[in-house]
Amino acid sequence: MEVIIAENQDQASEWAARKIKNKVKSQPNSVLGMATGSTPLSLYKKVIGFFKQESIDHSQIRTFNLDEYVGVRPDHPGSYSYYMQKNWLQPLGLSDSQFHIPNGNTGDILQECEAFEALLKKWGPIDLQILGLGRDGHIGFNEPGSSLGSRTRLKSLTEQTIEDNKSVFSKVDSPPRHVITMGVQTIMEAQEILLLAFGKMKAQAVKDFIEGPITSMVPASILQMHPKVQVFLDAEASSLLQNQDYYREVFANKPDWQMAELTL
Ligand code: GLP
Repeated sequence: MEVIIAENQDQASEWAARKIKNKVKSQPNSVLGMATGSTPLSLYKKVIGFFKQESIDHSQIRTFNLDEYVGVRPDHPGSYSYYMQKNWLQPLGLSDSQFHIPNGNTGDILQECEAFEALLKKWGPIDLQILGLGRDGHIGFNEPGSSLGSRTRLKSLTEQTIEDNKSVFSKVDSPPRHVITMGVQTIMEAQEILLLAFGKMKAQAVKDFIEGPITSMVPASILQMHPKVQVFLDAEASSLLQNQDYYREVFANKPDWQMAELTL
């Protein structure tokens, strides 16, 4: 796992955005795994900007989202489907056929989870998976206690996660308690993973998943077992890491040919 500590969120998002842009440039039919939440918003803006500035052909990419709320219509402003339309598909002019997200508004959740896994099997593996991090160490919506071998399935959210994510639902709608999420094992099958985490609120979860034991109580800690993970942090999110001086030193001395994917 490579831990990259930037000055601030903007710098971290820029490095990660260049990495994604370079991936699509070298492999135009890349399959990207997408996250939602506030963390990747500036990342997506930057990727879209780079695609446009450099006329990168993105007509063949395909994207898979990690998760979706159950019982929320795709055109509801709180749904992740709506978030993706607004922040990714529309600005890029991608077609719906290039975009996959679990349908949480279905009468048959089990069938939906199986269909999503089948699509991943057909088009996957995911070349580059983008992840955010929950305050409790969740990835996707795999809450603490999730099986580290889990696949796409129905999950119940913790009170803390419901609270953290409720602002996108208006006061009249009660925030959803159930979601469909890729499983921990499904996420681990991506060829390469970029996780972004910013701010003081994430510092404990960051420390736990990078430097703590691998445990289902911190689902992101399984990433220690993945051969290709880069973690992009700002100074606040990295503040509790025991080895932060070492991570900074490694990054400062990264060979030019490795830096190129983040800076060109
Ligand atoms: C939700 C999403 C996660 C995301 C997390 C953090 O739980 N399902 O994919 O990483 O929120 O959200 P934020 O980036 O808003 O802090």
